[in-house]
Amino acid sequence: MGHSMKRKEDARFLSGKGNYIDDIKLEGMLYMDIVRSPYAYAKIIKINTEEALKIPGVVAVITGADLKAHDLHWMPTLMSDTQMVLPTDTVMYQAQEVAAVIATSRYIARDGREAVIVDYEPMKPVMDPYKAMEPDAPVLRTDKEGQTDNHIWHWEAGDREKTDEVFANADVVVKEKMYIPRLHVVSIETCGCIADYRKVDNYLTMYMTSQAPHAIRTIIAMVTAHVGLTEEKIRVISPDIGGGFGGKVPVYPGYVIAIAVSFLTGSPIKWIEDRTENLQADSFARDYHIDVEMAGTSAGKIQATRFKVLADHGYTDASANPSKFPTGMFSIGTGSYDYDTAFMEADAVYTNKPPGGVAYRCSFRVTEAVHAIERVTDTFARKVGMDPAELRMMNFIKKEDFPWQSPTGWEYDSGDYHAGLQLAMDTVDYPALRKEQAEKREKGELMGIGICTFTEIVGAGPSKDFDILGLKMFDSAEIRVHPTGKAIARFGTKSQGQGHETTYAQIIAQELGIPAEHIQIEEGDTDTAPYGLGTYASRSTPTAGAAAVMAARKLKAKAKKIAAHLLEVSEDDLEWEIGKFFVKGAPEKAKTIQEIVFAAYTNHPQGMEAGFEATHYYDPPNLTFPSGAYICVVDIDRETAEIKVRRFVAIDDCGNIINPMIVQGQVHGGLTQGIAPAMYEELIYDDEGNILNGTLMDYLVPTAVESPKWETGHIVTPSPHHPIGAKGVGESATVGAPPAIANAIVDALSPWGVSHLEIPITPYKLWKVMKEKGILES
Ligand code: CDP
Repeated sequence: MGHSMKRKEDARFLSGKGNYIDDIKLEGMLYMDIVRSPYAYAKIIKINTEEALKIPGVVAVITGADLKAHDLHWMPTLMSDTQMVLPTDTVMYQAQEVAAVIATSRYIARDGREAVIVDYEPMKPVMDPYKAMEPDAPVLRTDKEGQTDNHIWHWEAGDREKTDEVFANADVVVKEKMYIPRLHVVSIETCGCIADYRKVDNYLTMYMTSQAPHAIRTIIAMVTAHVGLTEEKIRVISPDIGGGFGGKVPVYPGYVIAIAVSFLTGSPIKWIEDRTENLQADSFARDYHIDVEMAGTSAGKIQATRFKVLADHGYTDASANPSKFPTGMFSIGTGSYDYDTAFMEADAVYTNKPPGGVAYRCSFRVTEAVHAIERVTDTFARKVGMDPAELRMMNFIKKEDFPWQSPTGWEYDSGDYHAGLQLAMDTVDYPALRKEQAEKREKGELMGIGICTFTEIVGAGPSKDFDILGLKMFDSAEIRVHPTGKAIARFGTKSQGQGHETTYAQIIAQELGIPAEHIQIEEGDTDTAPYGLGTYASRSTPTAGAAAVMAARKLKAKAKKIAAHLLEVSEDDLEWEIGKFFVKGAPEKAKTIQEIVFAAYTNHPQGMEAGFEATHYYDPPNLTFPSGAYICVVDIDRETAEIKVRRFVAIDDCGNIINPMIVQGQVHGGLTQGIAPAMYEELIYDDEGNILNGTLMDYLVPTAVESPKWETGHIVTPSPHHPIGAKGVGESATVGAPPAIANAIVDALSPWGVSHLEIPITPYKLWKVMKEKGILES
């Protein structure tokens, strides 16, 4: 714990020996490619497969009608909505799956795809969620019995009346309207699978890029039980995964089609999305329209906040949220500030866009919530004439007030927001920056300083509140120590690059004293690993990490009994020092963990179970609440509107740190994925439902070239309920970076009355605003 041990998995990855889905080749394997709709909303008149079937090597073309014959043409989404696997009569978004071509090679499958001719009758799509809510809007989900409009759900949290009252009586009320744009997860590896059904023993092995293999196996079993494929006959294997970020949680139609085709043909079916399909058709993230208001005193005390959200879910609600929380943990949006009144409401609607939305590197809608609160906090500070840092310091929850009850029902476990922001301010020399800014303003130069002080909420469970499709959100670890004192540990989570093979080994090493190098970590095979809900929403450390500790402690208790037996003393006479038990007052009388484990197989006390293994299913008592204080400094060119991020300081608090190097890597990656929506990424649709930037030629994913030098640091407030005081960290930076950047750019333009800019703030968007406000110099 606390050591920057080099990642055990990197030898494999850096030498090209990773084992990804597309590396797996099975005997007799066929390949699948998918015909996709060019229209956002259209009737299917006819699917002509004749020409495709003439191509040598094309084995079959599967349509919705074929799946319907086996009642497999619809499937449930993780939010209990329904989604087409393949359509039988209507397509609902551009790039939707229409038919699947099966062939002896990937290239032939692609040729077959091009040869399938589909006659469509295009209809006018509904692309604007506000228009979708209008009474005369066409009802899109006519397949749903009783659905008379495009409304999906309404959700609220907090106290509406009390909030309205505080707002009515407040000295100061500020409001911002904002859109958090639609994004897609652009992981390096796209999604894919190999469905391998063996008719002879009615057994399906499903290799797939899944962040949650156990849950997916259960869902497959629910869908396939009626054709005789039950859960003990299904094995899901998630091999190495090249980035998930939430996008590999949902079940995509391609997986289901591959299973159905393998079931029908008895051949293994491989399906790997191409880059464009991944960007255009997989579950989206964000797409929230938010009205946010803050009320307070003219002296700068925040008294209440009010949020109203319109969520565009595309044609079906395929979010990966816990079922009780359709907006996920959006209600963390009251922020890091000490006030007791808030009200939030959200409505979700259907449109003709791809379904979603996934919690892209954020624990279920926290990014959206944090953007809203951190933007409006700046607007409030400006309105009352206070420096945004000073206003935040004045309103923060104090460290002695934890655990702290939020007005929307969360119990924040621990934090020290003052120390975090102070460290960030000291690192950048905040007073000097403000002085420099004032001088630059005198000279007509544009410089902005943006702050974001966020609270995250990660580690779902507890199971009393959190489930996905009824599956409770605990997680698990199983440790098996071999006679020579070397171990294998298996988990219900699944790393996609986060370094679990290293950090889980470090946790067990800390608890048992077996060196981390001698602890093999395995995840992602439902036949061997204990059941768990998977890795997303920074939940691995808070749940499975804790399970590893608890399982190790069970083993330590057993080790103590064996040591007492070997040393012929009472257990009460023993003390533990990492890696050995020794007799109090006689440290030379000791047994190392290796000697103890060997005895567990060769000389265990009579009556004791032999062997040395333990399993724990950890159901956390609360979530963990990491936090961060980020400061961004920008310079803007007054002629071209080019934005240069001069400095970005990120101070994080994820409690006790297991591996500082890995945490820093998580923060670096998260910050780059945070600058993405702030300055570059957004999926844009025209009124006909065409994606205008559906390839990586037009959808700009920032790389090292666009990234500024990230300066990172941390403070530590251990989680009081986590067994080693750790909190999650995986997504903090993606949550905290966008508002820090937006606040900095708005700050630069604030002397001209600019209080909000929609992200992504591209130079062109900024150029137009600067022109309109007369800021541009030409
Ligand atoms: O669920 P996910 O692995 O994406 O997120 P996480 O639990 O926040 O962990 C991300 C990586 O950071 C893992 O390798 C963790 O073990 C590591 N980590 C750490 O070293 N110390 C912490 N306090 C939290 C996470």
